[in-house]
Amino acid sequence: MTLRSAMPSLATFRFRFGLAAVLLLAACGGPQSVFEPRGPDAERLLTLTWVLFIGGTAIFVGVMGLIGYALVARPDRTRRLSGNHLVLWGGFVFPIVTLAVLTTYSAWTTSALTATPREEPLRVEVIGHMWWWEVRYPGEPGMPDAVTANEIRIPVGRPVEVTVTTADVIHSFWVPNLHGKIDLIPGHVNRRVITAHEPAVMRGQCAEFCGAQHAWMAFAVVAEEPERFEEWLERQREPAPEPREPLLREGREAFIAQGCGACHRVRGVPLAEGDLGPDLTHVGSRHLIAAGRLENGVGALAGWIASSQHLKPENLMPSFDRLDGPTLRAIARWLESLE
Ligand code: CUA
Repeated sequence: MTLRSAMPSLATFRFRFGLAAVLLLAACGGPQSVFEPRGPDAERLLTLTWVLFIGGTAIFVGVMGLIGYALVARPDRTRRLSGNHLVLWGGFVFPIVTLAVLTTYSAWTTSALTATPREEPLRVEVIGHMWWWEVRYPGEPGMPDAVTANEIRIPVGRPVEVTVTTADVIHSFWVPNLHGKIDLIPGHVNRRVITAHEPAVMRGQCAEFCGAQHAWMAFAVVAEEPERFEEWLERQREPAPEPREPLLREGREAFIAQGCGACHRVRGVPLAEGDLGPDLTHVGSRHLIAAGRLENGVGALAGWIASSQHLKPENLMPSFDRLDGPTLRAIARWLESLE
């Protein structure tokens, strides 16, 4: 085969280039994208990004133009442009003014991002674990905390103060449609107030490499109308519902018999008080399981229980691959019923 025949034809090149461009641009939107802001912070960050990008591009093009001009212009014409004036205006005045304006704008944006909200914020605690997210909504005194995992629900229009900590290594909390990254540092508490201005289901992602399954440390963020949010929050504070049918009761018994409760808490179920893994009290109401590895459903729950090490190697949960089919199905059906 000659080198020429091994090279792609122009048509193939155009097709591949077009395909790559479409794929790249297709990533510029959707539930995990900085280009589709769903709140004021993300809007400010996107505007800042465009101002810096367009400004930087314009300056780059200008400088390239001057270099090109210097290369091709005849010496007598170049002399007219060069000299003290070019150094003064191009080398001092322009960069000083441009950098001062951009620095001021960038500092103003940063201060707007960290401003104290006028309204009393809702408080949410997020704790990073390798590789999942614990989410707690502290209750008023005498009221139990609502605890969930890998899913954060927030009311539209109300500021939410997210407090982040980590149980092990450094992670980073990031919902691109809502805000910039917040690092979770061992021994340190970070805070950020975020607001969503329209109902949406978004995807958040750990943004700091934290081990083998860092890529599968995602979560869902559901922004919904305040009334729906309050109903959800109230339900989350309650213990697990009583099984309504024999199969579900069987599932609960099998869950206890298999020792799942040593790592998972299901409030209201005896011997299910572990806190190594996610609280499963209302696992059936979540969009995702295993920190975004699977979309929730009875099949996904059964698959995860049977082969968690295959789906997400090195995570703390062992694969229960010796369970017989009916037992696995009963546990998965019971978990799915915990809404
Ligand atoms: Cu947690 Cu990456």
